[in-house]
Amino acid sequence: MRIILLGPPGAGKGTQAVRLAQHLGVPHIATGDMFRQAVESASPLGRQVAGYMEQGELVPNELTDAVMLERLEQDGAREGFVLDGYPRNLDQAAVLDEALARQGASLDHVVKFMVTGPEIVERLAGRWVCPACGTAYHLVSKPPRTPGVCDLDGTPLVHRDDDKEETVLRRLEVFGRQTKPLYDHFAERGLLREVDAIGSADDVFDRLLKAIGA
Ligand code: AP5
Repeated sequence: MRIILLGPPGAGKGTQAVRLAQHLGVPHIATGDMFRQAVESASPLGRQVAGYMEQGELVPNELTDAVMLERLEQDGAREGFVLDGYPRNLDQAAVLDEALARQGASLDHVVKFMVTGPEIVERLAGRWVCPACGTAYHLVSKPPRTPGVCDLDGTPLVHRDDDKEETVLRRLEVFGRQTKPLYDHFAERGLLREVDAIGSADDVFDRLLKAIGA
């Protein structure tokens, strides 16, 4: 199955993408995670994208598309995927379509995560992440077993640099201007499924599975 998760920052895309990819047995491909790893390792790509991420701006399409096109050819992605954070504008959606057409493949579902503004603020303010494996925690809804350290590898948890209030506002503005038009784009093609993303992560996961008929 080939699925895109769409929604504003903090909607819970990453949280659900991990579970859905495991459930379906396909790779979870998250451009944000790939860029953060590149920044962490100070690779040439990391140096190119760091400034955009810190400002809450989109990384330029040429860089993002190149990373995604390479990934789509690797590690089982030809057989299916859960995309989290890509595409983020109409031009990226066109690049993805062309890449899938070259593979003789097509999208099955695009899921729209519906959340309210206050819920987004609450989720991002309480988010802590593991800088080693990328797992996201939340002070209230998903606390780590031992405060301040990752359940999976024991690494001290950190706040994401782009979860500062002014950067979150910028990311929301960028989402509204660049990414929201994708809802109509995919709805016109009959691919959009809406999921109420408020409630426990388990409840949202059940709704997600129903929405895609899995
Ligand atoms: P990216 O990493 O993709 O960030 P985002 O889209 O802003 O999404 P987030 O990761 O903030 O939120 P999420 O929806 O995954 O929520 P999560 O599950 O973590 O992108 C970061 C940056 O990279 C971009 O700004 C841009 O610069 C660059 N970039 C990435 N892709 C790009 C592209 N295609 N083109 C150009 N640039 C790109 O959950 C949030 C919190 O809520 C967590 O604490 C979680 O535990 C908690 N939570 C989750 N579900 C629930 C629930 N049901 N109830 C209560 N709490 C919950």
